[in-house]
Amino acid sequence: MRIILLGAPGAGKGTQAQFLMAKFGIPQISTGDMLRAAIKAGTELGIKAKAVMDAGQLVSDELIIGLVKERISEDDCKQGFLLDGFPRTIPQADAMKENGVSVDSVIEFDVPDEVIVERMAGRRVHASSGRVYHTTYNPPKVEGKDDETGEDLSIRPDDEEATVRKRLAIYHDQTKPLVNYYKGEADAKQCSYLTIDGTQPVEQVSALIAETLG
Ligand code: AP5
Repeated sequence: MRIILLGAPGAGKGTQAQFLMAKFGIPQISTGDMLRAAIKAGTELGIKAKAVMDAGQLVSDELIIGLVKERISEDDCKQGFLLDGFPRTIPQADAMKENGVSVDSVIEFDVPDEVIVERMAGRRVHASSGRVYHTTYNPPKVEGKDDETGEDLSIRPDDEEATVRKRLAIYHDQTKPLVNYYKGEADAKQCSYLTIDGTQPVEQVSALIAETLG
């Protein structure tokens, strides 16, 4: 099962990825998490990516395509994978096709920009696992601590409102065209396409996805 989670920053892709990983037993490939891990490890990729990410811009297609190509060739991806944050541009989607990587389902999360700005202000993350919380809508059991490990949660540096608005502008300009791209693929029976109202509570969004994917 190969699934693409498509949607604006903060639309809920990472949150639902946790649910889908548990339900279908397939790994989450989050390009954002991979880049943040590279930054933490101080690798060449991390050094290149840091300034770009902090400014809310997109990392170059070339770097990202190389990263994803390598990751999906690993053994744990043989039964499928969840792409979270990739592809994010038409050239990235084209690169997947050119490399013979097909997808079964594309799930689009539809959330208005103003809801996203509010969500990002309350987002807390457990960086090493990718688990995501919200101070109001999806709080951890103990304030400021990860449910599984009890470790401290953190605030992402790119969640500041001005940066979020920049990321949203880039989403509308460079990523939103993928909606029509994949709707076209679905019309040609290359994959299924589902648009979900991502403003519903987390559990309802999960239930809708589960119902559709079966
Ligand atoms: P990345 O880490 O991928 O960030 P993003 O796409 O901007 O998405 P987010 O992780 O911010 O949001 P999300 O949709 O996962 O929402 P979440 O579940 O956390 O990318 C970061 C950067 O890396 C990019 O800006 C770019 O520089 C670079 N990059 C990454 N991939 C790239 C690529 N392919 N090409 C080029 N550059 C790339 O939810 C948000 C909040 O809302 C949470 O607090 C959550 O608890 C809450 N929430 C979730 N669902 C609900 C709900 N239904 N109701 C209420 N609250 C909810």
